Amino acid sequence: MSGLEVKLAGLTLANPVMLLSGCAGFGEELAGVEGFDFSQVGAICLKGTTLKPKEGNPPPRVAETPAGMLNAIGLQNPGARHVAEVIWPRIQHWPTRFIANIAGSTVEEYAEVARVFDATGVAAIEINISCPNVKEGGVAFGADPVMAARVVAGVRRATSKPIITKLSPNVTDIRVVARAVIEAGTDIISAVNTFMGMAVDWRCGRPILGNVQGGLSGAAIKPAALLQVWRVREVAAPLGIPIIGQGGIGTARDAVEFLMVGAMAVGVGTALFQSPLVAGEIVAGLKAYLQERGLDSPAQLTGTLQPHQT
Ligand SMILES: Cc1cc2nc3c(=O)[nH]c(=O)nc-3n(C[C@H](O)[C@H](O)[C@H](O)COP(=O)(O)O)c2cc1C
Repeated sequence: MSGLEVKLAGLTLANPVMLLSGCAGFGEELAGVEGFDFSQVGAICLKGTTLKPKEGNPPPRVAETPAGMLNAIGLQNPGARHVAEVIWPRIQHWPTRFIANIAGSTVEEYAEVARVFDATGVAAIEINISCPNVKEGGVAFGADPVMAARVVAGVRRATSKPIITKLSPNVTDIRVVARAVIEAGTDIISAVNTFMGMAVDWRCGRPILGNVQGGLSGAAIKPAALLQVWRVREVAAPLGIPIIGQGGIGTARDAVEFLMVGAMAVGVGTALFQSPLVAGEIVAGLKAYLQERGLDSPAQLTGTLQPHQT
C-alpha cells in the first residue's frame, strides 16, 4: 500500500494535494458541497488576507478564456483580525490542515499579518509576494529579489510557523527570486502564481476586466508553470527546500508531471470552480498511480524526470 503522507520542511500533510488560495474561500463554502470530504485534501490555503479589510477591484473581476480564466479580485478580504478571531474558530475543527495566505503593501504589514496568524492554529503561513509595494512606488515585491527577501525576513521574525513563499512567474528569471527568498529564510516555495494577462471586448473596444489587467490561471498555464517549477528546482533542491507545484492542475496526471519536475506537493486552484471534488479525485488517481508502479510515497516521484532520449 502506498502511503500518501508528505513532509515539507516542518509541514506534514496527509497527502500532497492542496486547495489553492483564492479558489476555496476560507473553506466554509466547501462544508455545504455534497460529497466534499475535508480529510481527503492535504491542506486548504485560505484566501489572501491583508491587515485591514479590502473591498477588492472594481467589477468585472473575472473573464473566461479558451483554456483558463483571468482574475483581478484585488485581494478582497475581511482583514486578518476578523479571519483569526471570527472565521478561524469556525473552521479549525475540520479534518485537514489550513494554511494562511498573507499579503501587504509594506514589509511591516506582512509581518503584522503573520503575527496575527501565528497566534492561530494554522499549519503554515504562505506569503503572496505578488502585491505592489506602496512605499517603493508600486513595484511588485515578487518582481524584485531584494524586496522579496525583505518581506520573507520580516515574516521570519514574526512567526515560528513554517513559511511558504509563493513566487510570481512574471519575472525574467524566477531562480534569482527563489534564491533570494531561500537565503532570507523561507522553508518552502510555492510555484507559481498567475501569469499577467488581459482580455478585450472587441465589440465595444474596451477591456473586459475592471482592473484592465489580471492573472491568468487554469489549463492554459500548465506548460508554463511546469517550466517555472523545473527552474525553481535547480535552486531549491540542492538546498533541500521543498516546492509546492501549481498552475493548471486538474487531473492526477497533471499532478504526477509536477512531482516529476521537482514538486513535493501540488495545488489545485481554477479546476475547483468546475468541480470542488476534483482534488479528491486527484488524490485517488495519484494513489492508484503509485500503487501501479510499486512506489511507497509521492516523494519517490519528486524530481524523477529523466533526460530526453535522443
Ligand atoms: C479567483 C482567484 C483568486 C486568487 N486569489 C489568490 C490569493 O488571494 N492569494 C494567492 O496567493 N493566490 C491567489 N490566486 C492564485 C492561485 O492560488 C493559484 O496560485 C493560481 O491560480 C494557479 O493555479 P491554478 O491554475 O490551479 O488556478 C487566485 C487565483 C484565482 C483564480
